[in-house]
Amino acid sequence: MSSASSAHRKELGAYYTPPDVVATLVGWAVRRPEDRFLDPACGDGRFLALHASSTGVDCDAAAIAAATRAAPHSTPVHSDFFEWASSTKERFDCAAGNPPFIRYQRFTGRSRQLAQRLCGALGAPMSGLASSWAPYLIATGSLLKPGGRLAFVVPAEIGHAPYAAPLLPWMTSRFRSVRVVAIREKLFPELSEDVWLLFADGFGGSTSTVHLSALDRFETTAPTAPGVEIPISEWRAWRRRLRPFLLPDAIRSRYRQLVVRPMTHALGHFARVGIGYVSGDNSFFHLRPSQAREIDIPDSCLTPTVRRGRDLRNGPITGDTVSEWRRSDSPNFLLRLDSRSVEASGVRRHLDSEAGRQARKRYKCRVRNPWYAVPNVTFPDIFLSYMSGHTPAFVENRAGCACTNAVHAVHLTDGISPRALRRRWNSPLTALSCEIEGHPLGGGVLKLEPREALRVAVAGENLDPTSERLLREGVDLMQRWRHPA
Ligand SMILES: C[S@@+](CC[C@H](N)C(=O)[O-])C[C@H]1O[C@@H](n2cnc3c(N)ncnc32)[C@H](O)[C@@H]1O
Repeated sequence: MSSASSAHRKELGAYYTPPDVVATLVGWAVRRPEDRFLDPACGDGRFLALHASSTGVDCDAAAIAAATRAAPHSTPVHSDFFEWASSTKERFDCAAGNPPFIRYQRFTGRSRQLAQRLCGALGAPMSGLASSWAPYLIATGSLLKPGGRLAFVVPAEIGHAPYAAPLLPWMTSRFRSVRVVAIREKLFPELSEDVWLLFADGFGGSTSTVHLSALDRFETTAPTAPGVEIPISEWRAWRRRLRPFLLPDAIRSRYRQLVVRPMTHALGHFARVGIGYVSGDNSFFHLRPSQAREIDIPDSCLTPTVRRGRDLRNGPITGDTVSEWRRSDSPNFLLRLDSRSVEASGVRRHLDSEAGRQARKRYKCRVRNPWYAVPNVTFPDIFLSYMSGHTPAFVENRAGCACTNAVHAVHLTDGISPRALRRRWNSPLTALSCEIEGHPLGGGVLKLEPREALRVAVAGENLDPTSERLLREGVDLMQRWRHPA
C-alpha cells in the first residue's frame, strides 16, 4: 500500500487491489509468456510484478518508484495516462488493472480534456459527467493489438450510471466477448462504492450480447462464472442498465408484464415531482421555536417544514407532527419573509446579526433579491424520500408544510387523492420499481432523482399472490445488492 495521505489517495483514486483479484485478472489476461501486458494505472506495480513483459503507467512519482522496485523487469512510465495514450505507438496483447475512480467534479484540467478528445475520436463520446474510469477503459482498449483482451476492476456504477452507458456498446462493437462479473460483497471495504469486474476478449471482433454473472463474493473462477447473456438491445430496453439483470428472469419478466398493464401507471401520470426549496443557509433560515421566541420572530414569519429525509420516518405529516416539532424544539420552522414582515424589530435584528451578515454572503443569498426571501417554497401534497435506506418514504402532507431539497415535493395533477395514491404506492410493484428506476449511491443508500421518481410504476389493482411473492423476492434481492443498514 502506498504511503500517500488519504486526501492524496482520494485525489488520485489510489485504492490498491487485493492480491487474489490481481492474480485472477492478470492470469486471465496474459495467455503466453511473450504477451505484451499493460497496466494503465499501475500504482505500486502489483499487476506488473506478475508478468515479465509489462508496461505500467502512473502519474504519481512515488507509485512509479514503488512499481519499479516491485517489478524491476517492467517498463514504468511516469505520465498522465491520457497524455501517454494520445501519442504512444505501442500496442499490447493484453491489459489489466484498476483504473482510478475520480468523479467528474475532480476529474478536471488537461487530463479530462485529453480523455474526452480521445474517447470522441475513438467513437465513444463521454459526457462532462463521466468519472475517470470509463474513458480509461476506452483509451486502454484502443491500445490493444487485434485479438487482445482486457480485465479490469470497475465501479458497480457500470450497472446503472448514465455517463457509463457509451462504454458497453463500444465494447460489444470492438470485442468478440464482453463479460461483467457483479460481486455483492465488498472488494474494497474502505470504499462506500461496490466494485465489479469487466473482461473483454478478442479485440477487433464484435458481439451482440453482454454476459453478466452475479457472485456473492469474489472467486478466482470469476472470469468463467456462469451467468446470463444479455442482448445489447435488451439492455437498452432496460434503460441501459445492467442492474435489473441481477434479478432472476422469472421476476424480471413478471415485473415487466405488470408494468405494462393498462391499470399500471408511472408516478408522472399522477403528479409532478420536484425538489424542495434551497434556503442558501439552512441554520440561519431554519429556527427552533425557542430561538424564534428569544429573538422575537412573529409566528406569521415561520413556516413548518420537512427539513430532512428522516422527518418522514413516522408516516403522514399532520398537525400532531408539527406540535411534536414545537414540543421537542426542532429546527423545523422556515423563516419566510417579505418586504412587510422584514420590518418587525425581531426580524430586523436577526437579519442584522453576525449570522445574518454571514448568511447574505452565501452564494444562493447573493444571487437573489432580496437576499432574505427564500424562493420556490411550495406546499406539496406528498413528500417522497430523495435518499433512502430500505424503501423510499411516500408520505402525505396533511399539515400544509413546505420542504427543503433534501426530499422530493410531489404535487398531484390527476385528481387522485393523496391517500388513494399512497395506498397504491404501498405495493411490492412500486418498491421493486424504486429499486429498478432509482440507483444505489453506495453506503446502502438508494437515490431517486426526480426524473427517476417520475418513472416509478404504481399499480392500479391488487396483485395476485404469485406476483406479490415474486416482487417481494425481487425487492429483497435488489436491496441485498446495495446493503442498506
Ligand atoms: C485504483 S489505483 C490502482 C493502482 C493499482 N493498479 C492497483 O489496483 O493496486 C489508481 C492509480 O491510478 C493513478 N492515476 C490516477 N489518475 C491518473 C492519470 N490521469 N494518469 C495516470 N495515472 C493515474 C493513481 O496514482 C493510482 O496509482
